[in-house]
Amino acid sequence: MTNRYAVILAAGQGTRMKSKLYKVLHPVMGRPMVQHVIDQLTPLNLDETVTIVGFGAEMVKDVIGNQSKFVIQEEQLGTGHAVIQAKSLLQDKEGTTIVVCGDTPLITNGTYEALIKHHEGEGASATILTAKADDATGYGRVIRNAASEVERIVEHKDANEAELQVTEINTGTYCFDNQALFQALKEVSNDNAQGEYYLPDVIEILRNNSKKVTAFMTDNFNETLGVNDRVALARAEKTMKQRINEKHMRNGVSIIDPENTYIHPEVMIEPDVVIYPGTIIKGASIIKENAEIGPNSEIINCEVGESTVIRHSVASDSKIGNRVNIGPFAHIRPDSTIGHGAKVGNFVEIKKSVVGEGSKASHLSYVGDAQVGSNVNIGCGTITVNYDGVNKYLTTIEDDSFIGCNSNLIAPVTIGKGSYVAAGSTITKDVPTEALSVARARQTNKEGYASKLKNRKRD
Ligand code: UD1
Ligand code: CA
Repeated sequence: MTNRYAVILAAGQGTRMKSKLYKVLHPVMGRPMVQHVIDQLTPLNLDETVTIVGFGAEMVKDVIGNQSKFVIQEEQLGTGHAVIQAKSLLQDKEGTTIVVCGDTPLITNGTYEALIKHHEGEGASATILTAKADDATGYGRVIRNAASEVERIVEHKDANEAELQVTEINTGTYCFDNQALFQALKEVSNDNAQGEYYLPDVIEILRNNSKKVTAFMTDNFNETLGVNDRVALARAEKTMKQRINEKHMRNGVSIIDPENTYIHPEVMIEPDVVIYPGTIIKGASIIKENAEIGPNSEIINCEVGESTVIRHSVASDSKIGNRVNIGPFAHIRPDSTIGHGAKVGNFVEIKKSVVGEGSKASHLSYVGDAQVGSNVNIGCGTITVNYDGVNKYLTTIEDDSFIGCNSNLIAPVTIGKGSYVAAGSTITKDVPTEALSVARARQTNKEGYASKLKNRKRD
């Protein structure tokens, strides 16, 4: 099989984004654009991937890590100049080189495969991935001759009136015979409207050198969107969202309102999950079968068990068991584990805590730095008082215990198995197993005292 290489162009600043963040690092559905590009290139089994970095090189390298080699383009003199930087790593190698822009995050692996297949099938020196655009503004136009062969690409800024009418655009993705590419790059000049060394000029150069140049047109313009500004970024986000949602729906997930459901690419969702509008699921979350999420919920890096229901709530970096009922308006903060069949009701916050199987905190509680056993009832308004302003302390609530409403459990403290805490208690000492603890002032009733109060005179 022919060797395959990739060059990813990622050195530009992305002036049109008007951002301190370098263009290729802008996220689309939570993942940097350039990472999407790499995700889709990876299945091609490339022998070498070289990313051209310049602006924000260190940050871009950090994101990509060992998925690619890197070459620095010190000055951004154009896309052709960018590819030349990979010379020392690639120029003598035999094989096919695919060149892609770091700002086209929507191109799929299938399209890359089809492009390479077309290129190798044609025995071409260069194949351009092209598309028909409804609005070709800003893109390079593909200029064909009377025999419909690709002759050259003209950049928008260099195009004349007739050329501007052309709707077939250069997507910025190409396949080249590797050695022919580096040979042709030597002839590229910067004699154009932008004073840049354009990679697309290689097409005309190769043709002039009697090399075969072809185009492979994808019928999916949406996929080839180049993200140069925030308007295009929002379009990319929308397309990516739709693509991800459709994948899940085809796998048996019900998404009630796909327009208003945001699922990041790494999320795994089992069949028969129902997702209601306004839901965002991020990171490496796993949602198990029959769970119901939303409306209006945000789940970040969580495992959510079977048949669990989460409504109007936020949960992050936590493990939530099966048949758990969360919300409305609950907040599960990082490092929490919620056991099977547990309930975390309205206005309950759980932080860095374990809530055992079948335990319930149904209303208005704060449970932080706590180990809660199974079948515990945490009454309305219970607070684990975990912080003294300097240090945090643990609260342990053992199995089958019952915490009365409006109790403060001042940590470190242990509530023994099967014990009761009377409502309104402020617990400062451990409660023994099976005990009742009452820690509040006794009530005194003064009969008839109300009339005395009512009859008081002003001084
Ligand atoms: C480029 C193409 C255009 C095509 C469009 C598709 C050129 C001259 N034009 O235009 O024909 O229709 O993509 O989206 O190639 N980059 C570098 N170093 C540089 C310049 C750019 O690494 O010196 C990188 C950028 O970071 C970016 C990519 O190359 O990821 C494309 O550059 P950009 O400026 O976005 O080119 P376009 O104007 O979109
Ligand atoms: Ca671009």
